[in-house]
Amino acid sequence: MAQAVLAVLAISGVAAMLALILVVAERFIARYGSCTIDINQGTRQITIEGGKSLLNVLTEEKLFIPSACGGRGTCGYCKVTIREGGGPILPTETPFLTADEQEQGLRLSCQVKVRNDLVIKIPEELLSVREYTAVCEKIEDLTYDMKRFILRLQEPDRIDYVPGQYVQLLCPPYPGSDEEVYRAYSIASDPAETGRVDLIIRRVPNGICTTWCFEHLQEGQTVRINGPYGEFRLSDNPAPALFIAGGSGMAPFVSILHQMEHAHDTRSVRYFYGGNQVRDLCLLDEMKRFEEHLEDFTFVPVVAEPGPEESWDGRRGLVTEAVSEEFDNLADYEAYLCGSPGMIDAAIKVLKSLGIDKARVYYDKFA
Ligand SMILES: Cc1cc2nc3c(=O)[nH]c(=O)nc-3n(C[C@H](O)[C@H](O)[C@H](O)COP(=O)(O)OP(=O)(O)OC[C@H]3O[C@@H](n4cnc5c(N)ncnc54)[C@H](O)[C@@H]3O)c2cc1C
Ligand code: FES
Repeated sequence: MAQAVLAVLAISGVAAMLALILVVAERFIARYGSCTIDINQGTRQITIEGGKSLLNVLTEEKLFIPSACGGRGTCGYCKVTIREGGGPILPTETPFLTADEQEQGLRLSCQVKVRNDLVIKIPEELLSVREYTAVCEKIEDLTYDMKRFILRLQEPDRIDYVPGQYVQLLCPPYPGSDEEVYRAYSIASDPAETGRVDLIIRRVPNGICTTWCFEHLQEGQTVRINGPYGEFRLSDNPAPALFIAGGSGMAPFVSILHQMEHAHDTRSVRYFYGGNQVRDLCLLDEMKRFEEHLEDFTFVPVVAEPGPEESWDGRRGLVTEAVSEEFDNLADYEAYLCGSPGMIDAAIKVLKSLGIDKARVYYDKFA
């Protein structure tokens, strides 16, 4: 028995040593020389020193690909098509690529290292994504762990976006974090104010970017964002809509509600917004204002369990429970969901059980 354990330990030790040698060799010895990347059939050609991830190379060239997890290979957002030179698909990519996508040459650009010449195709709309500098004009406390950051655009000083879309905020290195990372944040402002981008950010314990936002970013400081990105938006369909969000999932709905107000949209919308305690809910007054100004909008805040000191005469329970209590059948509805992956998966299950057409459920997972 002892011999078997020793053998396993020895094999594991050798494997770990080999992996370490490979990492060190890759980092300090491997030289790939100069590599050329042809983008969208010669629309652009770049020549760089090989060795970095394709995502990093494109970002350095100001070609911004959505990368919500900051290149960790966990969001699946950074897909590009590689026509030549990408090498085999890695096991880290397969969970995010359907058989069809693999067939078409789609890859996660954060996982592909540039080692030789590449021929790639990126979605046309991403070629128009721009980088913006902005001044953080105001930081407002919304709850104990959520803040609104009001960014005034400088260069360019206007942004065109569809309410529901998001931007990527650049978090620079700071004491405690030596890397530069991008994180996705939904635009939470009035689209009529094209020189302003509001972000509603919830603090994530030990999170790189949210720690920077909450502890280092100051009013008056210049920041960089790029965008806009994403397909999450209100459809043109006049069908009644159900909005479901939790925490900072409120963000895109603020922008969408402004858009509806400007358009005098008469569409029927029921918005279920959940939190564990009363202290987790934000912007209740702004939602009341939308109720007064929109023709058929109802806001339903739902609290799982009010804290011992909190008074609450609104709905209690999970937001998904509130939805199933309220509706028998959602076959005629569209649904828009925003928040944590857990909340969204639970909501989709409930919506399907209430007869909603899956093709009419739109969501942005804050993964
Ligand atoms: C489309 C989209 C829109 C979004 N909009 C918003 C929004 O409007 N508001 C908002 O608040 N958030 C939003 N998010 C989430 C946001 O992008 C960030 O994920 C979030 O703010 C956390 O970033 P962070 O850098 O602080 O945390 P991270 O450093 O990314 O860490 C997140 C968590 O993962 C853990 N972690 C860190 N490193 C690792 C690792 N190597 N392996 C495993 N776990 C690790 C951390 O401990 C932490 O718990 C959105 C996300 C998406 C995809
Ligand atoms: S950036 Fe998230 S998977 Fe590539």
